[in-house]
Amino acid sequence: MDACSLSGGRLHMPSCDSIRGDFPEIRTRGVVYLDNAASTLKPVQVLQAMDDFARTRYANVHRGVHRLSVEASIEYERAHEIVGSFIGARGMEEVVFLRNTTEALNTVALSLAASGIVESGDEIVVSEAEHNSNLLPWRALARLTGAKLSIVPVNEEGVPEWERLAEYVSERTRVVAVGHVSNVTGYKAPVARIAREARQVGALVVVDGAQSVPHMPVDVRQIGVDFLAFSGHKMLGPTGIGVLWGRRDLLEELEPPAPGGGTVADVRLESGMVRVEWEEPPWKFEAGTPPIIEAVGLAAAVEYLKGLGMEWVESHEEELTRLALDLLEEIGVDIVGPKEASKRAGIVSFNLPGVDPHHVGLALSDRSIAVRTGKHCAFLLHQKLGLAGSVRASFYIYNCPEDVEALARAVGEVAAGFRGAPPANRAGVP
Ligand code: ALA
Repeated sequence: MDACSLSGGRLHMPSCDSIRGDFPEIRTRGVVYLDNAASTLKPVQVLQAMDDFARTRYANVHRGVHRLSVEASIEYERAHEIVGSFIGARGMEEVVFLRNTTEALNTVALSLAASGIVESGDEIVVSEAEHNSNLLPWRALARLTGAKLSIVPVNEEGVPEWERLAEYVSERTRVVAVGHVSNVTGYKAPVARIAREARQVGALVVVDGAQSVPHMPVDVRQIGVDFLAFSGHKMLGPTGIGVLWGRRDLLEELEPPAPGGGTVADVRLESGMVRVEWEEPPWKFEAGTPPIIEAVGLAAAVEYLKGLGMEWVESHEEELTRLALDLLEEIGVDIVGPKEASKRAGIVSFNLPGVDPHHVGLALSDRSIAVRTGKHCAFLLHQKLGLAGSVRASFYIYNCPEDVEALARAVGEVAAGFRGAPPANRAGVP
């Protein structure tokens, strides 16, 4: 796909139809893929970039003087720059490649403990809507240090009451950790406003961008946060690579919680003590041989998304979401989250009243539609809403309105099939 090709002198907007040709799995499997919040499909451009690199230019990085290693190191560093420029980073020093969002958030949490920035009696604020990846690392930090976890509740729509943040912060708040886009409701949190309020009490702001960075323009300086975490595999890239962006001064100050090869400029034995001099960021956080081929793939994925323009990605998903909300509401499903498409990224979770969401997911799979079912790792949110689980459809650049129509048709059929069936054992849904 040439995202903005000139034809007949006119600049074309991207279209889902033209994009689909780049995704072999759409052609070969014939499935309506609506599980993009879990992971996205891969375009040929990303597969090709990794294949070319692995076949012709691969070597370990930062560990050799031979030409292959030097060239691979330059390409690996360039991948940091490409990914950094996508989110408004000031250079590759601010871009740490780790395994995924979860590892990135755990790295921040453990670094804050290791560096003595969070101590006993301090406070950490999260919301009730968080994915376990943006809850459990903070619980672990609280247990490790004796800090207290404060939880901003969600309202009856499952939207965190961030407007009540002032009630949950104090002079002891060291961290406010916020999911930018909910992986269940698609709700877009007002991170810039949250960051301004958190800063007033001197707290650091950590953003789980797993469901925002792939779907909308995100600029770390515009939103004014301190750390941002996201995953490659949710934005057309490979699995095994995730990103931690951090403000350079913070990354310089922090103790790396998982050090090893590649993280030190020097190690010496002095009077029986092992002394270390850390490498500059990002390297002091990238212990061991890093995801080199994956970094090349992620850079290719970022170039692909840049070619489309993130404004287009966001508006395309909003259009699909609006259609999905309209069609699903006509069928009489219970939508989880706000009813306005403009408040959401391309995620719509729902339930057929009285039907086990896993049964719905299986029935949709029988109709060649891939969705996710269950609690989507957002246990507190489902608990609060009294739901044993939900069915989640999530959209991306290669989904067209026909996919949403196919979903609605299939949900309608499934709903008709379940009408009159005995109620599900809701407690049995894991
Ligand atoms: N975090 C991913 C999801 O929400 C796996 O499905």
